[in-house]
Amino acid sequence: MLKQKGFAELKIGRKVYKLPIIVGTENEKAIDITNLRRDTGFITLDPGYGNTGSCCSSITFIDGEKGILRYRGIPIEELAGRVTFIETAYLLLHGALPSEQKLKTFSSLLNKNSLLHEDMRHFFDGFPRGAHPMHILGTMFNGLSTFYPNIDALSMKEDIDVTATRLISIVRTMAAFAYKKSIGEPPVYPRRDLPYCANFLNMMFDSPVKPYVLDPEIVKALNLLLILHADHEQNCSTSAVRIIGSAQVNLYATISAGISALSGPLHGGANQAVMDMLRKIERKGDMDYFIDKAKDKNDPFKLMGFGHRVYKNYDPRATIIKQTCHNVLKRLKIKDPLLDIALELEKRALSDSYFVEKKLYPNVDFYSGIIYKAIGIPENMFTVMFALGRLPGWIAHWKEMVESKDRKIARPRQIYVGKGLRHFKRDEKAAAVVALKVKGK
Ligand code: ACO
Repeated sequence: MLKQKGFAELKIGRKVYKLPIIVGTENEKAIDITNLRRDTGFITLDPGYGNTGSCCSSITFIDGEKGILRYRGIPIEELAGRVTFIETAYLLLHGALPSEQKLKTFSSLLNKNSLLHEDMRHFFDGFPRGAHPMHILGTMFNGLSTFYPNIDALSMKEDIDVTATRLISIVRTMAAFAYKKSIGEPPVYPRRDLPYCANFLNMMFDSPVKPYVLDPEIVKALNLLLILHADHEQNCSTSAVRIIGSAQVNLYATISAGISALSGPLHGGANQAVMDMLRKIERKGDMDYFIDKAKDKNDPFKLMGFGHRVYKNYDPRATIIKQTCHNVLKRLKIKDPLLDIALELEKRALSDSYFVEKKLYPNVDFYSGIIYKAIGIPENMFTVMFALGRLPGWIAHWKEMVESKDRKIARPRQIYVGKGLRHFKRDEKAAAVVALKVKGK
């Protein structure tokens, strides 16, 4: 619920300007500067947007100081393990968990839209061997715009819900096809008798020579991981989706931009980078060396999977993932030395004044890779798994934006610090050299 509660006063020179104070449902406060430039001639400067609210949203609430995360008002701890990823996706898209009937309709729509256009299957042959599946996925999403009816904010040619369902369904088919291509195996098509996560696992691991046997524990773990990744308000990739979408770009191309943003190691790519780091620590056998490196201001190295722009407390998703990691490895009877290294690294970092003072805690990416590895997902697919989970969140934000009555193209300003006015002057000698080259002398 958005309320306006009084004004803040801004004094510039002798003039005092009144800026409305906006208060959200959970008492988050903002100073509304919508008319600041018009009234004062000033803009605000906030590189990295640490203090800038880009929109009002009713999808996800985070309190980073207290370590709270809620989807549509429901704490993440109450959803995890109780609902499926598909119910969570529905919750994010439609604002409430589905009734039995609505879930049936949603599931059958997912099933109906799970096949990738057959001509698109051949695209996978064009990528070089070893291409990162995250880049393949981004490219394929952009390609979807050419195969399916365009949906854009103005024409509304196709029902948003149909397109959203198609994307949520088709993303797992594309992700699994990309993996099969990378290992040189034929693709496995979706099956109508399998629910979402089981279907994805089957497409990833079934083969004509070795049928895949579904393990309910693995299906459960995957559901949980996807739920935990499903939305996280205005993070880098979701903001990318909102910014690109604000130009009325079609949803497929918009999501492709979200995938690109997510691939970076400071964002979703961190889950793969954590595994690299843990393995380097294992090889070197010297954890202090890496902790000291992370603390060194002159060294670009950071503890991957640590720190967060919003959480200045334990990331609630990391708490759940850490516990799940123990449970899954125990049930699957797997002993992974990387888990021991991660646990020790966390213990040491959390008792080190550098990390304590800067409030750096494990984030969602710190333990997730160890579970993915245990359930058989290859490392270069970790960030793709994140994208699978985050897709409903991206679509929910896009939908909220295009349906909002005060939507505007996103267009930040800048303070120019380049050269002042100077006039054009030709360097005659350089121009003569170029002319000679053009004549082939
Ligand atoms: N290791 C060591 N130092 C760190 C780390 C880290 N992982 N994270 C932050 N710091 C330090 C910074 O160097 C900075 O120090 P300073 O104040 O002396 O300059 C201070 O803590 C504040 O950090 P910022 O980088 O300013 O925080 P910001 O909010 O801009 O960045 C980010 C957040 C990008 C997540 C950062 O913590 C980081 O790079 N972490 C490692 C990568 C990672 O795990 N990314 C996944 C994030 S979760 C997600 O996106 C899904």
